[in-house]
Amino acid sequence: MPIRSFLKWAGNKYRIIEQIKACLPKANRLIEPFTGSATIFLNTGYPTYLLADSNRDLIQLYRYLQREGQAFINYCRLFFHPCFNNPKEFYRLRHVFNMSTEQRRRAALMLYLNKHCFNGLTRFNRQGKFNTPFSAYKAPYFPEKEMKFFFQQAKNAKIIHADFINTLALAKRGDVIYCDPPYVGLSKTANFTHYTACGFSHAQQLILASTAKNLVAKGITVIISNHDTEFTRKIYHGATLLPLSVQRNISSKGSQRGKAAEILAIFQ
Ligand SMILES: C[S@@+](CC[C@H](N)C(=O)[O-])C[C@H]1O[C@@H](n2cnc3c(N)ncnc32)[C@H](O)[C@@H]1O
Repeated sequence: MPIRSFLKWAGNKYRIIEQIKACLPKANRLIEPFTGSATIFLNTGYPTYLLADSNRDLIQLYRYLQREGQAFINYCRLFFHPCFNNPKEFYRLRHVFNMSTEQRRRAALMLYLNKHCFNGLTRFNRQGKFNTPFSAYKAPYFPEKEMKFFFQQAKNAKIIHADFINTLALAKRGDVIYCDPPYVGLSKTANFTHYTACGFSHAQQLILASTAKNLVAKGITVIISNHDTEFTRKIYHGATLLPLSVQRNISSKGSQRGKAAEILAIFQ
């Protein structure tokens, strides 16, 4: 069984991890500019990693766990006491998170919100405020085992808060890069890109594709996941394209959950 992340994360690659791993060549370092819940990192054995994401709270959470291990796990557990599992406490703690500049508390609350909010959908509005509502789970799971695994694995990882353009600029000959950006929309409504306040535009998809082409010339392999659409086939022209079929659970309406065609574009 693949290793599960300690976070719920829209677009995580748990279900297709084996298909992705089969495409990843050996290297000394794997770079993930869109780390998300770190499913690829947790399920591969590269000697070193560069993990990046533009969601600052996500990266702070990883960095506190990497630095403090069990002490930080114990601190996070305090927020999983049953007295905090009700709407009143959830909205109070969500407000504390949104207003707080105290980084360690924000990091622990990021985990609390992720495990207590509706569908685990970590979503930010344009003002950068976490805005997913409460979900009445009977007893939200505290992922101690999964956090310990991350802590062990993170000994060989550098974890940075960065936009993908800055992360890609750090790549060196021989690195392998796996890119999992917010996907291009299949329709105006079926499009989730609000992992951060800014969303992710078509222009950014184009920059990512053209940077991948430039990196190949420097001896760097780049693999990109996305929806399989006319647009993505056009911008990934020249790459080896591997179509996948994946069950997705992003939609809150059960009837809209279904299979979406996805693609892996391999630039090498
Ligand atoms: C599809 S998710 C990645 C999922 C991940 N592979 C997993 O298995 O959980 C996309 C990620 O890209 C991040 N992101 C969005 N815009 C970004 C940007 N401009 N630069 C870097 N990361 C970005 C989001 O915060 C989110 O974590």
